[in-house]
Amino acid sequence: MCDLSLNEAIPEQHMQQITKIMNQRLGKDLRQFKKSFLNRRISARMKTVGAQDGSEYAKLLAVDLNEPSILFRSFSINVTEFYRDKFVWDCLFTKIMPQMTQNGTQSLKIWSAGCASGEEPYGLAILLKEVIGQRKIRFVIKATDINPDALNLAREGKYHPASLKNMPPQTIAKYFVKTNDTYQVNDELKQLVSFEHADILSYEVNNVNFVSCRNVLIYYDKPTQELVFDKFSKVMVKNGYLVIGQDETMMGIESAKLFSCIYPRERFYTKV
Ligand SMILES: C[S@@+](CC[C@H](N)C(=O)[O-])C[C@H]1O[C@@H](n2cnc3c(N)ncnc32)[C@H](O)[C@@H]1O
Repeated sequence: MCDLSLNEAIPEQHMQQITKIMNQRLGKDLRQFKKSFLNRRISARMKTVGAQDGSEYAKLLAVDLNEPSILFRSFSINVTEFYRDKFVWDCLFTKIMPQMTQNGTQSLKIWSAGCASGEEPYGLAILLKEVIGQRKIRFVIKATDINPDALNLAREGKYHPASLKNMPPQTIAKYFVKTNDTYQVNDELKQLVSFEHADILSYEVNNVNFVSCRNVLIYYDKPTQELVFDKFSKVMVKNGYLVIGQDETMMGIESAKLFSCIYPRERFYTKV
């Protein structure tokens, strides 16, 4: 039995073998992830399959049909819930969305980048519908993720009561249909969100009014974060809004100059 500690660092030489094989087999570049994160995920996988060291695990990656994609999927952390960090959503509802929908706005494009199982984009759709009320403003929410399993759950839109704990009962009654012990988003809400399997950096989109990318960049190294912020700036309209996660920051990022921070605590920015 392998007793590799999850905190033990995988030697650089083994990491390079693993990175090379993952690139050959899946065309994915692991170097974009933070080293500590990679180390934890690969070590966990090595423990599961009983690999004695990184070199043995690299050999398995080279021959096994499924291991490369199983490993890659383990890099996708899908933890999410409706209205996580409620004060951020309160700011969105009371300040950002009213601004976004003022001055004769007719249509809006929102991008939920790294949407996991859908709580974030559906949550956005609900708030925006409430803010718009009777006004004639159309909007579409583009929701993307690299994890196909999470996207399947998102498309189905069925949630356990626990993940709806931050939502008032009248909102649940308005936008969900109760079936046994789960709640499924109703058809009206579903039509407002389109899900796509796509990596943030290669996703083709433009004229975005609001990007929500929360709790995604934390797993990536600084050069990759630079590319992502640069991409957001390129696809957003001028004065468009961006929100990132509570544990994420633009500090030390060159492309931060493309944005102005408007609510630091909530991590809201506008494109300058
Ligand atoms: C922790 S979840 C965050 C979900 C939601 N944004 C939230 O804050 O509740 C991170 C999600 O980002 C996705 N992800 C990670 N890297 C990505 C990338 N390069 N492109 C698209 N999605 C990505 C993961 O698959 C995962 O579903």
